[in-house]
Amino acid sequence: MTLLFVNAAQVVTCRGVGAARRGREMSDAGVVTGVAVAVTDGTIAAVGPQAELERGYAHASRVDCDGRLLTPGLVDSHTHAVFGKPRFEEQELRAAGLDYMEIARRGGGIHASVRDLRARDEDSLLELAVVRLRRLASYGVTTVEVKSGYGLTPEDELKSLRVVRQLGERLPMRLVPTWLGAHEIPLEFREVREGRSEYVRLLVSTMLPGVASEGLARFADVFCEPGVFTIDEARTILTAARSAGLGLKLHADELRPSGGAELAAEIGATSADHLAAISETGIRVLAESNTVATLLPGTMLFLGKEKQAPARALVDAGAAVALATDFNPGTSPTTNFPLIMTLGVSQLRLSVAEAMIAATVNGAAALSLADRIGQISPGFSADLALFDAQDVRELPYWYGDRRCVATWVRGRACHTSTVETL
Ligand code: NIG
Ligand code: FE
Repeated sequence: MTLLFVNAAQVVTCRGVGAARRGREMSDAGVVTGVAVAVTDGTIAAVGPQAELERGYAHASRVDCDGRLLTPGLVDSHTHAVFGKPRFEEQELRAAGLDYMEIARRGGGIHASVRDLRARDEDSLLELAVVRLRRLASYGVTTVEVKSGYGLTPEDELKSLRVVRQLGERLPMRLVPTWLGAHEIPLEFREVREGRSEYVRLLVSTMLPGVASEGLARFADVFCEPGVFTIDEARTILTAARSAGLGLKLHADELRPSGGAELAAEIGATSADHLAAISETGIRVLAESNTVATLLPGTMLFLGKEKQAPARALVDAGAAVALATDFNPGTSPTTNFPLIMTLGVSQLRLSVAEAMIAATVNGAAALSLADRIGQISPGFSADLALFDAQDVRELPYWYGDRRCVATWVRGRACHTSTVETL
């Protein structure tokens, strides 16, 4: 099966090496005009002058891009998409002056989602998540990382990760599962002496082996933050996860600095995420490491924080920066990835090319997939998105709009609204 994508106003190729782009390497999104894209058996076969490819691929099915913008499918490398009820009541509490961490201390926040998820079965969670991920797809996302982390018992964490596995079977999107059993210290462990260390033992000795033996996760993650998991606890949990064959991620320096970025670099994490409170040393060590700095500006916006991650300093120091939604019921209830790119430009002061690379190549690198997805280049998977725009700069410009009209994963239609196959 061969497809030929023709008549795009621009093709944003993001082409280059199949690895994270760091520092100045992020400043070219490889925008080309007058080209067509040939796809054979789900893989990009050629990107070249349209007239030439029309001759070479005369028998291909043509996909008329009709003067729109063709990009790599967006890669959302950080979500908590498996949850039950939304938590809209907390937004007003914060507006009234109650802090996110204070809400958690009172048994709300993550604890509220945990109570709710534990009471639901797999089917109920699956139905909710399917709809939410379809929304994410409708904004141009073709790959999504999904974390557990609202179960916090061996059974409920396995239940959440089985939902992610089912999502991968039900939806045409590419799913990457992450085990986040270390998202909070559950209340039943907070309330007893030695509870913290008992919970860390449960994570390492019971939960992790269960997750690993069923092959339910590619990554392990820890919410490392004052009041949640300490640096030493995070190191213990992630070191065990590495021995169990999982890649490593870390919620690092989200609200207060605690050396999370430094730990991520030290243990060779694939990504360090959030980083709004990263230290100067943290910036330097991340820039010198292979760890992707994943920034989540929607979270700071939604929490009403004035501070954002120092994206400019990170890029200028030579770090590889990715953007993601952090889609979750507490701190970032949005599925609008292009809006996150808007924040990337207007709040984080990235250029459009940097935001584009952050949402594609570097998102893929944050999932160890940069050799397969994130680019429109020969040999890469045909994971594509078509937007109702003529210029790449329109993507972060029409903020809050849903401009995506179609996506493809491995050359197969994923989300569709109006595009026609001729
Ligand atoms: O990435 N920081 C920890 N986890 C999520 C929030 C989860 C929640 O509040 O439900 C985050 O912001
Ligand atoms: Fe998160």
